[in-house]
Amino acid sequence: MRVLFMHPDLGIGGAERLVVDAALALQNKGHTVSFLTNHHDPSHCFEETRNGKLKVRVVGDWIPRSIFGKFYAFCAYFRMMYAAFYVVLFQSKEEKIDLIFCDLISLGIPILKFAEHTPKILFYCHFPDQLLTKQGGFLKRIYRMPLNYLEEKTTGAADGVLVNSKFTSRIFSETFKTLNITPEVLYPSLVTSSFDITSPIDHSVTDIDDNATIILSINRYERKKNLPLALKAFKLLEGNLTKHEWDRAHLILAGGYDSRNLENIEHYDELSVICENLGLKDKVTLLRSPSDEIKVKLLNRCRMLFYTPTNEHFGIVPLEAMYLARPVIAVNSGGPTETIVHEQTGFLCESTPEDFANAATLIIKDQKLGEKMGDMGRKRVQQRFSFEAFTEKLNQIVINLINRRST
Ligand SMILES: *[C@@H]1O[C@H](CO)[C@@H](O)[C@H](O)[C@H]1NC(C)=O
Ligand SMILES: *[C@@H]1O[C@H](CO)[C@@H](O)[C@H](O)[C@H]1NC(C)=O
Repeated sequence: MRVLFMHPDLGIGGAERLVVDAALALQNKGHTVSFLTNHHDPSHCFEETRNGKLKVRVVGDWIPRSIFGKFYAFCAYFRMMYAAFYVVLFQSKEEKIDLIFCDLISLGIPILKFAEHTPKILFYCHFPDQLLTKQGGFLKRIYRMPLNYLEEKTTGAADGVLVNSKFTSRIFSETFKTLNITPEVLYPSLVTSSFDITSPIDHSVTDIDDNATIILSINRYERKKNLPLALKAFKLLEGNLTKHEWDRAHLILAGGYDSRNLENIEHYDELSVICENLGLKDKVTLLRSPSDEIKVKLLNRCRMLFYTPTNEHFGIVPLEAMYLARPVIAVNSGGPTETIVHEQTGFLCESTPEDFANAATLIIKDQKLGEKMGDMGRKRVQQRFSFEAFTEKLNQIVINLINRRST
């Protein structure tokens, strides 16, 4: 089969990793895949889209991304619709396309129905776009109204819809009330090869000594990630641990930090102030945008992972920690409830410092417990979230969709 992937901006992020993995998976299964995108910067993209393994064609990059710094969504939708017209008018005449895999923006779907040989259209919903946009005043609501309406209608035009978790599936049904679609869950997978390095942490990363008990949290410096929870929970440990245990304890917050992003800058400063106020200055390290290599070293070095966001859509970091055999303490909501098994591969807690601290205390006091949970976490990732499992599931979905008679 020939499968065309349509994605707005083929940069580096969770959504991009997913579509690249989906393309690689179908390619492994013998299908011919290629990408059509509005933007692809070889200096900021995944290797597979640059080295020729996946063919990429860029169209419509000349269309502006915003009008006077506003109307980003409108422009992004317009760019994607342009790409859809391109497929209908040119690409589908050049080559027979059996299936089109779209994600993020659904507005091109009705247009793609006019492509030659009417390919099947599969839409991957990472999260309803209208819920991701910042809330605004009256004018913003007026502006979003038709866009939200179109998002719903055009999503409904797809032949199949996939989501990244049961949680997103639920949100999908609550948001798109007029659609009678139950999306199928295709969990993202973990690219395990990048985690299979075992070199010990070098001390240039942190100046924490070898005997420290490290608790790690990996999240971008955004307020919705609820990082203060990690700090407050860590502070409570002081009361639960012996002096010796507490002296050894150390918390590392590591996360994406973009110096052009105001929220990142402000939030980093806010967290520094909280550390200071809690008297944790010497016990907490805040790392900005650690490289992938350092991230793996930190995961290998830590005793457990704190994962603080509530209602995370999926959350890949817990899988990364589990794969490296570390127990994960996360909030009992959203995607983590599907990846973490409570009291087996970690703890699913209320979003309170007390609950997090209690779980962490159990793991610190009982080294065997942490190790056992870590081993079970690793097995779970290998069985349920491996690239192989992802490949089989996606291939089956695609084959079923192609074989289904048009309705
Ligand atoms: C770590 O612990 C070992 C054994 O208890 C000890 O010999 C060593 O000095 C400690 N290292 C540091 C940096 O405290
Ligand atoms: C930690 O300390 C709190 C407050 O003293 C206590 O209620 C809790 O049971 C302790 N947790 C553990 C796991 O020991």
